[in-house]
Amino acid sequence: MRPLLGVLALVTLLSPGRACPAPCSCSTKKNGRLLAECAYRELRDVPRGLSPNVTILTLSANRLGRLGRSSLAEAPELQSLWLGYNHISAVEPGTFAHLLHLKNLDLSHNRLADFPWQDLGGLGALQILKLSNNRLSWVPRGALAGLRELRSLWLNDNALATLARGTFEGLPALAQLQLFHNPFNCSCRLFWLREWARGSPAVLSRAGATLCAEPARLRGRAVADIPAELCVAPSAQLTYLSSLAKGGPGDGLTLSLHCSVAGSPPPEIRWRVRTAAGRSLDIRGPAAAQAGPRRVLAFSNGTVAVPDFGKDDEGTYTCLAVNEVGTREVSLHVALAGSEGPAEELPRDDPQAGQPGQAGQAGQPGQAGQPGQAGQPGGHGCARGHEPEPSGAGENLVIVYHVPRGVRSWAGGPEVPLGALPLALGLALGLW
Ligand SMILES: *[C@@H]1O[C@H](CO)[C@@H](O)[C@H](O)[C@H]1NC(C)=O
Ligand SMILES: *[C@@H]1O[C@H](CO)[C@@H](O)[C@H](O)[C@H]1NC(C)=O
Ligand SMILES: *[C@@H]1O[C@H](CO)[C@@H](O)[C@H](O)[C@H]1NC(C)=O
Repeated sequence: MRPLLGVLALVTLLSPGRACPAPCSCSTKKNGRLLAECAYRELRDVPRGLSPNVTILTLSANRLGRLGRSSLAEAPELQSLWLGYNHISAVEPGTFAHLLHLKNLDLSHNRLADFPWQDLGGLGALQILKLSNNRLSWVPRGALAGLRELRSLWLNDNALATLARGTFEGLPALAQLQLFHNPFNCSCRLFWLREWARGSPAVLSRAGATLCAEPARLRGRAVADIPAELCVAPSAQLTYLSSLAKGGPGDGLTLSLHCSVAGSPPPEIRWRVRTAAGRSLDIRGPAAAQAGPRRVLAFSNGTVAVPDFGKDDEGTYTCLAVNEVGTREVSLHVALAGSEGPAEELPRDDPQAGQPGQAGQAGQPGQAGQPGQAGQPGGHGCARGHEPEPSGAGENLVIVYHVPRGVRSWAGGPEVPLGALPLALGLALGLW
């Protein structure tokens, strides 16, 4: 009977729930949670033989150097994992991904230059994440999104020079954030953090020690005190200049739109064109973009020109003003009214054609070729960037009129010598 008893005793020892790795001491807490206490043991690896029921594992102050993907595979029920004060320099992606019940993760005081951020995607129960006193130089955009229970985040004493806008969005439970002792580059790219620190219900701990290291003129200044006038979000105003016929034979209408922008640093202007015909153009900086036979010219002064403007060019013209603080978009819908083939109908000897500003005033009384729309308020093809952004289809519409020679006035009034008028008339209808 004795050998059988011995086997039974061994089986009992190794049965799940009882097992405790030799260097650790295990105990069941009052609330029934199983604690494996393995701190201060000079361990170089996570010990094997953990109970699958273990909910708290302390491995602080050991000599762990690297966490392999399977190092915590034995403990899927973990709620608290204490790994602080080790020598951990690498954590293989996937190491934490299966710890679906994890509430506390402490990796502070290690040597991490990177972290398997993607593992956080599955850790919806996480409440406390301590990554302080490491060598982290970046947090990927969106890495923390989805941590809806996260209350406390420690990232202090790392090598963070910047953080992507929105890094702390999607964290509804966040109450405390530690970022001090990082070498922040307080370019306007980080200005959002100042605004966040001032407006968020979460507390930025030791904000007075959360300082700029760059640029030199802001060195030692708190991130929350970056002067507001240095970083002004872009504003933009998109104006319909004209759609003029050039003098030479065979030349068509040239649509000109002008985007004037302001902000600090001075915004870069980009253009996005989406035509009704399904063409799509994106222009960065002064350039000519071409799709199919059509060209759109963007000049460094903020003017965009579409030579030989025709039906195919109808669509939405969007100016994007971009600086480190943000992006502002203003759009105009441009439509062509009148007969097909405007190029053929141009008055080639018209002395007024080709003069800037002529067609842009078409919305004023006495100059419009179309009764009922003359003199409409705001009828200058002008969208002001600083006004509240109209949503959806509420953007401005510019209708470029092509009026063939010798056509009678719609109103039945005296015949208008249309041949003497610039043939492209611009009109903005305020739809909002
Ligand atoms: C471990 O969990 C299993 C399954 O829930 C349970 O049957 C077992 O009694 C637990 N052991 C301990 C020591 O809590
Ligand atoms: C700080 O950030 C700005 C803007 O992103 C960048 O141009 C500059 O080089 C950075 N300075 C340092 C020292 O990294
Ligand atoms: C911008 O430059 C272009 C090309 O030099 C010119 O045709 C246009 O009139 C200029 N726009 C303004 C608003 O000065």
